Amino acid sequence: MTPTEYEYLRKFLKDNSGLDLSADKQYLIESRLLPLARKAGLSGIGDLVQKLQGGSRTVITDVVEAMTTNETFFFRDKVPFDHFRDTIMPEIIKARAARRSIRIWCAAGSTGQEPYSLAMCLKEMGAALTGWRIEIIATDLSQEVLEKAKAGIYSQFEVQRGLPIQMLMKYFKQTGETWQVNPELRAMIQHRQLNLLHDFAQLGTFDVIFCRNVLIYFDQDTKINIFNRLARQIEPDGFLVLGAAETVVGLTDTFRPIPERRGLYKPNDPRVAAAKPALAGAAPRMAAMAGR
Ligand SMILES: C[S@@+](CC[C@H](N)C(=O)[O-])C[C@H]1O[C@@H](n2cnc3c(N)ncnc32)[C@H](O)[C@@H]1O
Repeated sequence: MTPTEYEYLRKFLKDNSGLDLSADKQYLIESRLLPLARKAGLSGIGDLVQKLQGGSRTVITDVVEAMTTNETFFFRDKVPFDHFRDTIMPEIIKARAARRSIRIWCAAGSTGQEPYSLAMCLKEMGAALTGWRIEIIATDLSQEVLEKAKAGIYSQFEVQRGLPIQMLMKYFKQTGETWQVNPELRAMIQHRQLNLLHDFAQLGTFDVIFCRNVLIYFDQDTKINIFNRLARQIEPDGFLVLGAAETVVGLTDTFRPIPERRGLYKPNDPRVAAAKPALAGAAPRMAAMAGR
């Protein structure tokens, strides 16, 4: 791969998925894209770049998908799900007692382990949610991972990662070597393709947003832009949950961390955020990206 081809791919990925690669990640590109090029009958990365430049839709999608990292597992990091059960849901149940409906968005839900973990937590709450309307929307950039999430079929290895055995027995059915999530749990989740770089206002507002382990791949301006737009999709008393290596601190005042609840954030009153223009400064630069 020539330096020009590498620079082209870096920019292409940043524009199309937000992926921010440093100047020394040629090996990553080669390990992910060479197999793709070979499968497409191309001689190497140079040919692939030419196809991208020619605007081939299939190649564009394949390259973007091949460069995403889809690592996930059931109840990943455990603590966010403890917070969901012990802090978030009790508060939301109290606050929504009159309307008895809850909307949850799992942004970048990958192959489905995260939204299904949330669905299992909700099922385990039993009577507390009887008669409630619960919507879980799981989105991801990658169509390939969404197909797997929709099917809800996992290997023995995947169900052994993080899923307690009682939950496996209760919510999954074994078919040969694989395990499928039961239809009731599958019906709780709507899976949709969505690129976080694009406008997501059409999803409506949510009580809880899980957006974990995806912003780590983006640069600072992109993170700020996404936080600011997430703040518009969350109820004033809602919760944002980020991954262990992610934070709003130092980036935006649209959310504030909840003390002693690592990874949990509350939206700030927009007047508080507006009163601190220093951190909002990067937002206008990103407006074009979100089509604003
Ligand atoms: C490392 S996984 C995290 C999955 C899950 N949230 C978790 O924490 O286990 C990151 C996911 O983000 C998705 N992704 C990457 N860029 C994205 C974008 N611009 N918009 C939406 N999803 C994106 C990838 O396809 C991948 O499935």
